[in-house]
Amino acid sequence: MSTDNTDSSCGASETQSTSENTSDEAASASTDKPTTDAETDTETASKRGASEASSASETTTTSTEASSSSTCGASSDSSDPASSGSCGASGSDDEKEVGATVDDFDAEPGRLVAVGLGPGQPEGMTAKARSALMDAGHIVGYTTYVELLPDEVVEAAEDIYNTPMCGEVSRTEEAIDRALAGNSVAIIGSGDPNVYALAGLALEIVESKGATASMLDFDVVPGVPAAQSCAARVGAPLVNDTVSISLSDHLTDMPTIESRLHAAAKEGFTISIYNPWSRKRRDNYEKCCEILLEHRDPGTPVGVVHAAGREDEQVEIVELAELPDLGETDLVDMTTTLLVGNEDTYVWDDRMVTPRGYETKYDY
Ligand SMILES: C[S@@+](CC[C@H](N)C(=O)[O-])C[C@H]1O[C@@H](n2cnc3c(N)ncnc32)[C@H](O)[C@@H]1O
Repeated sequence: MSTDNTDSSCGASETQSTSENTSDEAASASTDKPTTDAETDTETASKRGASEASSASETTTTSTEASSSSTCGASSDSSDPASSGSCGASGSDDEKEVGATVDDFDAEPGRLVAVGLGPGQPEGMTAKARSALMDAGHIVGYTTYVELLPDEVVEAAEDIYNTPMCGEVSRTEEAIDRALAGNSVAIIGSGDPNVYALAGLALEIVESKGATASMLDFDVVPGVPAAQSCAARVGAPLVNDTVSISLSDHLTDMPTIESRLHAAAKEGFTISIYNPWSRKRRDNYEKCCEILLEHRDPGTPVGVVHAAGREDEQVEIVELAELPDLGETDLVDMTTTLLVGNEDTYVWDDRMVTPRGYETKYDY
């Protein structure tokens, strides 16, 4: 694996992998099959790259480096192996320790808010999310999510720190260190911060640094999760009891994922499948199809939504029996969510319908 060590101007440092891609969110935007990122104009593009931890051969860029260093308190030593790693956890799964602790910061703590951007396009963002971003001096996020920010948010930000792939732990730590150093910081992600995202990790790291959520006035601003924005594209597939299951075995082992798939499929929940496919997880996708077909009729409708709300959006409703063959197509990758119907789900007028049961009580 080839790596480049890149430092941030404020807090955690991070080693980015140029060839590995194991984290869920990295994979969801940097897929093995082609996807298109949002285009940016030149002015906002330069701001978006302002404090970027680069995966390429250059070290961190930084038009705002001086000012962001001055507003940051403790910075972890970039030569400290505990503060760097490869793609994944801090980046590496081996690295369990945080860099700076609360005692390393002299400043009055600032604020940390986890903001969900929704599916992608600016109009899919809630007004509360937009206002939280306008209020944050520093915005920290994965590059593709930074590219999704509305221009006015980019223009209003004092500093934007983005990392091109992986490194969720070190990026979250960076956000926390900036907040502990007195800044108002938003850490961003697609969809909702509570759905396979960084809200929980942020609280865990705040605790491990000896700080508290209250000290940072920690808040979560919800966004529309992929399951819901994708469901909206295919009608009404999730109206009754429903669950979501991620096929990523990066943080949950495959036997557990399989067991959950069996349980959900057996009990008649509709199922939103997140992180369905990557080159390294072909087997997970195949296993998932096998389990679903063990419990559900091959004719069960499945909504397949790729890149909801983005330029390369694709939407199809297929039958469960067709799912295995879609794994090798551009329709199913790490920017796709699958919506698996239950035994009552049917297709009417190109829409999936999962009855909630009204028809058993009312005449219409
Ligand atoms: C790490 S999870 C992040 C989920 C996100 N926090 C949410 O609330 O939707 C990434 C997965 O979300 C799903 N996803 C995210 N954005 C999507 C979109 N625009 N269209 C379809 N699926 C999407 C994909 O299944 C992807 O693999």
